[in-house]
Amino acid sequence: MRRISSFVVLLCGFSSALAGLAPCVELNDGNKMPIVALGTGRGTASESASVDEVRQAVYWAIEAGYRHVDTAAIYFDEPEVGQGIRDAINNNLVTREELFVTTKLWGDKHREQDVVPALKESLQKLGLDYVDLYLIHFPVAVKEDGSYDDVDYLETWRGMEKARALGLTRSIGVSNFNASQVDRIIANSRVWPAVNEIEVNPTLTQEALVTHCLELGIAVMGFSPFGFVVSRNNPNAPPPRADDPVLVHLSNKYHKAPTQIILRYLIDRGIVVIPKSVNKKRIEQNIDLFDFSLNDEEVKLINGFNKNHRVIDFADLKDYPNFPYGEY
Ligand SMILES: NC(=O)c1ccc[n+]([C@@H]2O[C@H](COP(=O)([O-])OP(=O)(O)OC[C@H]3O[C@@H](n4cnc5c(N)ncnc54)[C@H](OP(=O)(O)O)[C@@H]3O)[C@@H](O)[C@H]2O)c1
Ligand SMILES: *[C@@H]1O[C@H](CO)[C@@H](O)[C@H](O)[C@H]1NC(C)=O
Repeated sequence: MRRISSFVVLLCGFSSALAGLAPCVELNDGNKMPIVALGTGRGTASESASVDEVRQAVYWAIEAGYRHVDTAAIYFDEPEVGQGIRDAINNNLVTREELFVTTKLWGDKHREQDVVPALKESLQKLGLDYVDLYLIHFPVAVKEDGSYDDVDYLETWRGMEKARALGLTRSIGVSNFNASQVDRIIANSRVWPAVNEIEVNPTLTQEALVTHCLELGIAVMGFSPFGFVVSRNNPNAPPPRADDPVLVHLSNKYHKAPTQIILRYLIDRGIVVIPKSVNKKRIEQNIDLFDFSLNDEEVKLINGFNKNHRVIDFADLKDYPNFPYGEY
């Protein structure tokens, strides 16, 4: 066992040969979560992947040693994620028990009585009996047409607790919640969130929110981990790019790609990373992270790029109550 920042990293299973490449973090409910997850969200990058590419990516990822896949109802790719998983199980690459599957509840299903049916629908699409982690995707409730709906996320959380009690998900958590929203759930609920999934990368380092969550024993999953280091067709976004001198220096020192330096930077901060790729080589590269680590000075150096600048701003929801992102 090894302590990284404030989270303990341990083997995922008794047989490390079957456990995949990434170690696990222990969640506050006792469940274990692999610290590298394949991202499957589409439309968030310069090239948006087709759903069939997602099926193939999930299979390649499992082949490459990933044991965690991150999807969501709103990605509309749960059937293909499920198919990739089934293909891998049928070819004896893994068993269901060795995999950790995360999906998310969208804002149009925030009423307490809608949560369990929404998860059942996700399970049906995935072709699974349970997921490992179910997240409230965003704290704002919306109607099906996208307009505001007045549902408190505390009500939604009751539904999440029910889904967990029914065994439809092993852990429950939130995504895109800010510190006071996390605190409000904790103050008003029996079951604490196991996870907060938020954007973290060199231009949005989120030091205060990450520390807040980790101190409470809430694991942080970091989405859009590459920030603007990869091309997003946004030339005005703040640095770093892959050719930034700081990243080139670390890349040469550790014989790793700048993208691997960024993922390792997040892991060394105690953050579970969710790199997305549909390219076999890049999928393999994005989990080849466990033969080096950055020292505290190098982590601080990358923190120095922070500009509180988001890749994903959920601008459509910004005028609604419960929008989580204050001034940035
Ligand atoms: N909870 C939320 O609200 C939320 C929001 C956004 C995202 N997410 C999750 O986080 C995941 C990741 O975020 P993201 O989709 O914004 O993107 P990302 O992981 O930051 O990756 C962005 C792009 O970088 C490219 N890439 C990946 N590995 C690379 C490498 N080694 N070298 C060069 N380029 C590379 C990929 O293109 P190629 O496919 O061509 O390699 C990918 O499209 C999502 O898929 C989703 O699962 C969650
Ligand atoms: C968190 O979200 C609430 C609800 O929208 C908002 O009032 C508050 O200012 C936010 N806090 C921060 C630190 O952004």
